[in-house]
Amino acid sequence: MSCDSPIGVFDSGVGGLTVVKEIMRQLPNERIVYFGDTARVPYGSKSKKTIITYTRQIVRFLRSKDVKAIVVACNTASAYALEAVKEEAGLPMIGVVEPGARAAAAATRNGRIGVIGTEGTIKSGIYNQFLSATNPHVTVFGKACPLFVPLVEEGWLQDPVTRIVAQRYISDLTAKDIDTLVLGCTHYPLLRKLIRSIVGEGITLVNPAYETAITLRKLLQEEGLSGERQGATQDHTFFVSDGAEKFRQFANSILPCEVVETKDVNIESFEAD
Ligand code: DGL
Repeated sequence: MSCDSPIGVFDSGVGGLTVVKEIMRQLPNERIVYFGDTARVPYGSKSKKTIITYTRQIVRFLRSKDVKAIVVACNTASAYALEAVKEEAGLPMIGVVEPGARAAAAATRNGRIGVIGTEGTIKSGIYNQFLSATNPHVTVFGKACPLFVPLVEEGWLQDPVTRIVAQRYISDLTAKDIDTLVLGCTHYPLLRKLIRSIVGEGITLVNPAYETAITLRKLLQEEGLSGERQGATQDHTFFVSDGAEKFRQFANSILPCEVVETKDVNIESFEAD
């Protein structure tokens, strides 16, 4: 593993691409190896035990690609598995929750913060934990939005159906007088425009991806692992556990670079060499 090694990034599906996009923007000299667990999405409704098992398998796969650090670009896996797997991973590993909580704590003015996420993320109480540790005076209101992930995976980002669903979920939080809303699932920034049109300009929307990329940059600097290769953006590689072509098309609608190929991996039977 060296400065030239890539960064491993993973999610349950396409959501982690919102984090990849931000890493590409803020750290243009880094190469990325992405894994989307499209065969087993969603993670949000699964148990902690299952998410830890999946995360272990993916870490093993990414390590086989000689990554120098791993970004858990999934809130549910960050909530349930990061602590359990971090030590044994044997390389720097960060999630999206802590950076997201930090950004929200800095953004709020009235101390009332809404968090939307999967059932798993909201049930884990992890945003509450990090937010209260950063600022004990904040009040956190969580709301699970389980229909958002399938709507995003379907590509219905501006659809009237998605709007009705979003209005119903979000009205519970706006009624609580929040001034900050954390998009606590990596799929949700893809609904940002729609959510903005519902909440108006008075509520700050926090996308944890931005702060995650900052955290990653600091971590690589501290470890002496910052990439120095100019134009590394051509070398990113993408793997999924199912539906490679569908994923590739989706990735091309989000990312600033062209994804030419996405490869299928049988993650459950993957064995490192
Ligand atoms: N991307 C996942 C997250 O951030 C949500 C999708 C899923 O449920 O797998 O929690």
